[in-house]
Amino acid sequence: MSDLVLAGGTVVTAEGSFRADVAVSGETIEAVGLDLPHDGAEVVDVSGARLMPGFIDGHTHMDMPFGGTITADDWDTGTAAAVAGGTTMLVDFSLQDPDGTLAEAVETWHGKAEKSRIDYGLHVAITNLDEDAKRELPSLPGLGVATVKIFMAYKGTPLYTEDEDLFEAMQIARECGLLVLVHAENGDAIAKLQEQALARGDTEPRWHALTRPEAVEAEATNRAIRLAEVADCPLLVVHVSCAASLEEIQRAHARGRPVYAETCPQYLVFSDADLARPGFEGAKYVLSPPLRDPSNRPALWHGLQAQDLHIFGSDHCSFNYAGQKDLGRDDFTLIPNGAPGVEERPAVLWTHGVLEGRISENLMVAVLSTNQAKVHGMAGRKGAIAPGADADIVVWDPDMTVTATRSNRHGNVDYTPYEGMTFTGAPASVYLRGRLAYQDGQVLSEPGSGRFVHRTFAQPAPAAAVR
Ligand code: URP
Ligand code: ZN
Ligand code: ZN
Repeated sequence: MSDLVLAGGTVVTAEGSFRADVAVSGETIEAVGLDLPHDGAEVVDVSGARLMPGFIDGHTHMDMPFGGTITADDWDTGTAAAVAGGTTMLVDFSLQDPDGTLAEAVETWHGKAEKSRIDYGLHVAITNLDEDAKRELPSLPGLGVATVKIFMAYKGTPLYTEDEDLFEAMQIARECGLLVLVHAENGDAIAKLQEQALARGDTEPRWHALTRPEAVEAEATNRAIRLAEVADCPLLVVHVSCAASLEEIQRAHARGRPVYAETCPQYLVFSDADLARPGFEGAKYVLSPPLRDPSNRPALWHGLQAQDLHIFGSDHCSFNYAGQKDLGRDDFTLIPNGAPGVEERPAVLWTHGVLEGRISENLMVAVLSTNQAKVHGMAGRKGAIAPGADADIVVWDPDMTVTATRSNRHGNVDYTPYEGMTFTGAPASVYLRGRLAYQDGQVLSEPGSGRFVHRTFAQPAPAAAVR
């Protein structure tokens, strides 16, 4: 017997859209179909709305030390912002302490995530790929961690990893069923360009992008792809910002390589011009890889359309303008890299993708939810409106209009880069495993409502499986 029936809406899946009721029993979806029996269940009329599988954000940084400070959002505020946008699960980066083990990073992040209002998974972000860490990698799948991120950038910090170690990690990952995520930018070239800029007295935020040109991202993307080819392992290139990097991914797909790729909302709505805003305002837009010339946008949209870019993550990494971004007032290299976006990610895609005719609503569901579940290893349980799946459901109002401003955001950051931007399309309500988690602007799920999701990476068949 069902507990809840969402009646009269249009179900939107990655495959198609159709009129159907959705019946929920306990925490899972029991049935999807026309005119489902009510049998004493609570019936919610959702006519006029789209019912989509809860959105999954495979790329967030909550309560993370970075750039000499710690992100403004913790798991309480960050997941409040997430669910207000329709996101019912995120996969966050457990940052290895350079003197600690990978298991300790996971344990530390479980402790932080006790406050999560939504379900969560954990990646490990590697900061010290020494022999001990390499020996430890095969134990991660047993902890429910299917993915590790390796940084080719941020030279001069513990995050930076040499090719030799990256390559060896890829070989190990292939053997133990981990998926390697890369931050693909050439750390050496960036370090030299930064040093030269500072020596000239070029200290303003706009130099962040000028010292990280597109070619340094494209070069590292190609290098990571080729190293993965030698190691014969699948790869996920995260936060693809420009056409030049995407071209490397397309070439890999043409060769039949299992290379997954992610892009993010900031690369579709902001540009390098935002880094040159008057005064120190550009610091709000310092993130890596940097914002690009808008001429890159059509290629990124095409990458989503053609599914060379499989997933759309936020890379939510929030720092306050006052007291955090400020650290780099006299030196752009000291501005903590990152911006908030976990709340806005779905609305950006509906407004600029679906409503402007660039993508279908089904592709939106694919890149926000279904493909996320596949790539990050939780398909079946998450990312679907189908019997047996967790009842994570977004009741999407396609016509609701919201103008983003600091005061109507649900996170804990003292600015929003989206200030004044109007979105059409927003969640009217959100269900997390059958329970109402958000409605009409109010976050209802409590800190601690979220549950850890044990993920298992399924090795793709080459080529076609990633398109
Ligand atoms: O600027 C960014 N992206 N900050 C978060 C860390 C990362 O590289 O993803
Ligand atoms: Zn990164
Ligand atoms: Zn990131």
